[in-house]
Amino acid sequence: FDPKTPQFLTSDRSSFASVSADDRWPVIITGAIDDLHRTVATVTDDEKAKEGKRIIEKLATMKYELQHDRQLTPLDDDGASDIASYNKELEQRGTPKWHNAPWLYSECYLYRRMETFFSLSKHWKGYDVFGRQKMSTFKSSRPAVLELAARYRELALEAESGKNAEGKSAEEVAQAERLLFSEMCEICLWGNATDLSLLTSLTYEDIQKLQGSQARQASQKNILVNDIDSAFDVLQKARAEKKADERRVDIVLDNSGFELFVDLILAGYLLSAGLATTIVLHPKRLPWFVSDVTPKDFADLLNSMVDPQAFYTAADDSGKTFPQLSDKEVEDVKFLFQQWSEFHQDGKLIVRPHSFWTTQGCYWRMPHVAPELFEDLQESELVLFKGDLNYRKLINDAQWDPTTPFTTAIGPMGPKSGIRVLAFRTCKADTVVGLPAGEDEKLRQLPGGGGSEARKWAWSGKWAVVSFSDGKA
Ligand code: F6P
Ligand code: MG
Repeated sequence: FDPKTPQFLTSDRSSFASVSADDRWPVIITGAIDDLHRTVATVTDDEKAKEGKRIIEKLATMKYELQHDRQLTPLDDDGASDIASYNKELEQRGTPKWHNAPWLYSECYLYRRMETFFSLSKHWKGYDVFGRQKMSTFKSSRPAVLELAARYRELALEAESGKNAEGKSAEEVAQAERLLFSEMCEICLWGNATDLSLLTSLTYEDIQKLQGSQARQASQKNILVNDIDSAFDVLQKARAEKKADERRVDIVLDNSGFELFVDLILAGYLLSAGLATTIVLHPKRLPWFVSDVTPKDFADLLNSMVDPQAFYTAADDSGKTFPQLSDKEVEDVKFLFQQWSEFHQDGKLIVRPHSFWTTQGCYWRMPHVAPELFEDLQESELVLFKGDLNYRKLINDAQWDPTTPFTTAIGPMGPKSGIRVLAFRTCKADTVVGLPAGEDEKLRQLPGGGGSEARKWAWSGKWAVVSFSDGKA
């Protein structure tokens, strides 16, 4: 079912695939080991502590195999339906070694194998080795969260009072709405730049710099393909033509914490503006690519907002304390919490996990391996795919010519699929499509762009693409 274009391999020395397998993955596994050590040290039940130590050994073995370039071993069967397919594909691919394997397969395998250690245990089922890191990074996004909460509340109150439409022609109102949609989308797009699997050593200051509104404005020129307007057109048209009907927008989530926060900002805005009547969120079933959203992360985020003062001022692990929030700041966050909880309770904001999202393959396979999911997405007005990994999976992490049209590279998810795809991707991997001729070459010539050797400009999350395909046209 996959496209013929070859994929990136961890043996490609000029691609981020080899940097990932050489440097990034060992750091990620070490982080998981450290986290589990810390938790095991607090466990009083002997049997549970012993089992925790055995999981640490399994993680260490996997790290050893990775660093000594051993073959990938078949996954232990933890009873979930995807294991057979992971193992079958491993065999079909000739049981590759860690440093000469398809990047996409081996990276998914890494997280799925970690999951088996926990799912096959007695006491550690559902444990998330990245949970601690996810929450503490969300806490470090405090300035950006407060800034956005204030901006959002101001907009919501303005909309309620009807003030923003006063004295304006219908055309001006429509233009203002288009601009606001675009702002909300950009907030949501750049929220993806701060994912934890890539930025393994982010400082508090780094995170703040990446998330503020000034950073966003400065980054507008870094959106290489920008189809936000086309997405607005379809949602606006649907609102005009099917005012009373259900109009659903789906968000295939990426990272938790700040990115989930901005996804919810966009979701809340779409519902309030009547551009959608239901939002379906698609999280991962298991801890995935370090920071991806699980259903528990969604609940944790909302819980943190019940009492923002307590959450944001609690001392961190090192004992560092934080300044109190002002009354207005507390109110701004609570306003969002109230709105999102209501949407959730009213069934307008739905969380719908599916095991397909943590399988190893690209989305070209969806109609065949998850037909019910494919049909479900056809019901949606627009399916928003967040982040780098979703984009890699849409186009099979393949070595496309970068000028290949997006609609070609997404294959069965493209024209006539019945699915409208919108990808919000900050580039953190080599694969990219839909660029104007000459753009890749130009970017490669920038300092650190990689020259003729490599496409380094696409590795850091500094550049983005927003690509649209109207599968209903
Ligand atoms: O390329 C670095 C990387 O961490 C890949 O592992 C993965 O494709 C991606 O970035 C994760 O980013 P995102 O959270 O945006 O999908
Ligand atoms: Mg992610």
